[in-house]
Amino acid sequence: MYDKNKILIGLAVFVVLMTYPFWNNIGSAAYQRPVLEKPKFAKECVEGVEFMRTEHMSMLNEWRDEVVRGGDHEYHSTATHQVFQKSLSKTCMKCHENKEQFCDKCHATVSVNPYCWDCHIDPKGENK
Ligand code: HEC
Ligand code: HEC
Ligand code: HEC
Repeated sequence: MYDKNKILIGLAVFVVLMTYPFWNNIGSAAYQRPVLEKPKFAKECVEGVEFMRTEHMSMLNEWRDEVVRGGDHEYHSTATHQVFQKSLSKTCMKCHENKEQFCDKCHATVSVNPYCWDCHIDPKGENK
């Protein structure tokens, strides 16, 4: 029992140390970030930019669970105090209308390829 806990703590420390350069680089000036196309008609995101950079994936997961399991469609922003519909296509993509020059461009530099578009619509694109 005792040793198992020690091993788990050791593992956790190891994982954090190994991935620290990655986390530390996201959102920092040192990171070679691509030039992204920002929304033209909005100045603010649903939350602060720093938060969005690091947390948008978990935010989307939470939105999905809350909508699909809880039927809860309203997101109350802590940053802007606005209410948004919890929706990938209807909310995120409404402002970030150029998926290629925003989501895809950033994801390409970090080699992530979310599978969401197999089902979800990119309203302005042709879904690919
Ligand atoms: C009301 C319009 C609007 C909505 C809705 C919106 N965004 Fe944003 N988002 C913006 C704007 C404007 C910026 C740039 C803000 C800035 O640079 O100060 C931004 C910035 C971001 C960034 C940071 C980009 C960078 O420069 O690093 C990410 C990531 C992001 N949004 C993802 C999302 C996701 C995911 C959703 C849906 C959960 C979403 N946004 C919904 C307007 C919006
Ligand atoms: C500033 C860079 C940046 C922008 C802009 C951005 N993302 Fe991401 N996104 C990331 C990073 C980095 C990850 C990987 C995080 C990880 O590996 O845990 C990620 C992961 C994701 C994931 C999870 C993928 C997976 O397989 O786990 C989703 C979903 C996602 N992004 C959606 C979006 C959407 C939708 C937009 C556009 C509205 C967007 N992102 C814009 C940087 C960005
Ligand atoms: C196999 C098909 C499929 C895939 C792949 C998929 N989804 Fe969904 N998603 C659905 C369905 C079906 C719903 C329910 C639609 C509803 O109730 O309005 C949903 C609902 C959602 C919602 C809430 C409703 C809305 O309008 O957005 C979010 C947020 C969401 N998914 C995010 C994601 C993200 C992020 C990914 C990728 C990491 C993803 N989904 C991948 C099928 C899928």
